[in-house]
Amino acid sequence: MTLATERLLLRQWRPGDREPFAAMNADPVVMRHFPRVMTSAESDGLADRLEAGIAERGWGLWAVEVRAGGAFAGFIGLQPVTNPSMPVAPAVEIGWRLAAGFQGQGYATEGARRVVGYAFDEIALPELVSFTTVQNRASRRVMEKLGMTHDPADDFDHPTVPADWAERRHVLYRLRRSP
Ligand SMILES: CC(C)(COP(=O)(O)OP(=O)(O)OC[C@H]1O[C@@H](n2cnc3c(N)ncnc32)[C@H](O)[C@@H]1OP(=O)(O)O)[C@@H](O)C(=O)NCCC(=O)NCCS
Repeated sequence: MTLATERLLLRQWRPGDREPFAAMNADPVVMRHFPRVMTSAESDGLADRLEAGIAERGWGLWAVEVRAGGAFAGFIGLQPVTNPSMPVAPAVEIGWRLAAGFQGQGYATEGARRVVGYAFDEIALPELVSFTTVQNRASRRVMEKLGMTHDPADDFDHPTVPADWAERRHVLYRLRRSP
């Protein structure tokens, strides 16, 4: 399943995405709200898992391609939250990560709006969640622009990040399908 927007394609991963994906995941600016950057082997492993998830379910965290010029820009899409140590599990998360050169142009919101439509209208999910560190204002702003709501009672310490990491506290946003 490929999703199209005015400026983007959200599509299955390709071998040629691996190199720009590894560069993005090694960029400390892109990864400033994560405990650390990724090695290229970790990045390739993540791409493999995302590709396999889409092949299996038909949906997932899609590779983002800018239609004008065909550049790989990052990922936007859906991810099942299955780890029982996550307070919100089980759930389906909407998420995004874009390379630095593609940020600040409305791409995350544009792609995510299409994903919300797909999630509610085409696979009939009842609810989407999204979470990020308290300090990640850009990601929180995308959530707000999608109409997601934040209840501070849902905030949580992320169970799989280092316990002494300064950004361990996470905010959770929710969006329910309209009846
Ligand atoms: C989060 C991310 C995907 C947003 O992508 P994007 O394409 O730049 O997002 P958009 O342009 O659609 O919207 C970003 C909004 O955040 C705002 N914003 C950006 N940086 C901000 C900051 N430091 N403080 C407050 N608002 C900020 C922008 O002004 C914009 O809001 P506006 O349209 O009201 O002006 C991108 O910053 C990114 O990849 N970050 C690194 C990876 C990451 O943290 N992913 C999320 C992990 S949960």
